[in-house]
Amino acid sequence: MAKAATFTCSNCGAVHSKWSGRCDDCGSWNTISEDAPLGTGPKGKGLGAARGKGIALTDLSAEEAPRPRSQSGMAELDRVLGGGLVPASAILVGGDPGIGKSTLLLQAAAAFANSGLKAVYVSGEEATNQVRMRARRLGLQDAPVKLAADTNLRNILTTLEKEAPDLAIIDSIQTMWLDTVESAPGSVSQVRAAAHELTSFAKRHGISVILVGHVTKEGQIAGPRVVEHMVDTVLYFEGERGHQFRILRAVKNRFGPADEIGVFEMTGEGLSEVANPSALFLSDQEAQPPGSVVFAGIEGTRPVLCEFQALVAPAPAGQARRSVVGWDGGRLAMILAVLESRCGIPFAGLDVYLNVAGGLRISEPAADLAVAAALLSAREDAALPRRTVVFGEISLSGSVRPVGQTETRLKEAEKLGFEVAILPERSKLGQNVGLQVQKMPDLAALVGRFFGAG
Ligand code: TYD
Ligand code: MG
Repeated sequence: MAKAATFTCSNCGAVHSKWSGRCDDCGSWNTISEDAPLGTGPKGKGLGAARGKGIALTDLSAEEAPRPRSQSGMAELDRVLGGGLVPASAILVGGDPGIGKSTLLLQAAAAFANSGLKAVYVSGEEATNQVRMRARRLGLQDAPVKLAADTNLRNILTTLEKEAPDLAIIDSIQTMWLDTVESAPGSVSQVRAAAHELTSFAKRHGISVILVGHVTKEGQIAGPRVVEHMVDTVLYFEGERGHQFRILRAVKNRFGPADEIGVFEMTGEGLSEVANPSALFLSDQEAQPPGSVVFAGIEGTRPVLCEFQALVAPAPAGQARRSVVGWDGGRLAMILAVLESRCGIPFAGLDVYLNVAGGLRISEPAADLAVAAALLSAREDAALPRRTVVFGEISLSGSVRPVGQTETRLKEAEKLGFEVAILPERSKLGQNVGLQVQKMPDLAALVGRFFGAG
């Protein structure tokens, strides 16, 4: 039976069931066209008309050799990739314009090339001598990386096929265009088609490709999320423009753990790796002001200590603000509500600012207790004891729930000279805990212990 025809907008990628002159989703005119139905042969025959050839079926138990990986020698990058670059894989590196993607990937290209891979760097945004100037600034001018500046994907793919490198870096996917697609470079259909060509090229020819993608204001890689679905690995390069710290985060990885992070520092000579991020995200512990609380977190497979800073100030009537950087705004609202309903500590009429120091972004619910402690500490103008770390998840009832990897968190805190840990009552503790442990059954216990009765 023939499948109903579908119509796609070439501007936003929205799929419609019928043709119209204007796309309801993005509002642009004359961008909708009919999609070719799946399985249409050259003569327009349906799938039923011609038989495909048989495909090989195999068993679940079949042995498969582990994929060989290539290490760049940049330990932070290799870890985020899941232990190195997998041959014939497609990787998307997304991030804000100007955050340092081109710098990172030029350094990566040089590192892979120096470790023996054949690497090609194609820039669609800069001329070759601009890239060369950057390489000189980074001290990489002698690395055996092959360079090109072009945006015509057909030419690029032909060249890559001839050169047969191990790794090709395409900077950026938004500048690439295919002559078979009508819309302008950077439009959703171009980005999608270019990404599709590149990922299938990677699989066909055994060449790893890294695509650079700029992120739009809405936090999506410009154009559709479909690019994320096509590639094997999606890495985000994050950081605050004014801060020197940059975090490379695996949000999807078919060949390794997601949520792994690599930490870099942007210097005058490019990105340098930060092997011990905890030390970096903490400010001077001898002078810990009210509102500042250290959270013992886990990012990917490693413990990272970082600092929550809260400020609570009287608000103009009826205009209380909640502003949060580096954490989830909804989660902050929840903790404020629990503090008010379960502990009788209102924040109405108060501005609340919450910030994670150093430009780090935390998404673990395990940070709830640290956030609550920072809010209380700021509101009561009372600092926690020095050299204290906090972690635990808060439920709507106000109880404090245990979180995973307690021992790893405590070990890291101990290593960095912390002496006290405030944690959930039911935490599983190992044998030798070098810290003094303060167990909290619920949020009210924390309030009673450190901030009077409220
Ligand atoms: P870039 O890699 O061009 O960003 P993207 O490709 O993500 O758009 O980085 C641009 C910024 O990095 C620019 O503001 C200058 C800064 N930078 C340094 O601070 N040090 C350096 O060694 C380099 C090469 C860039
Ligand atoms: Mg760039």
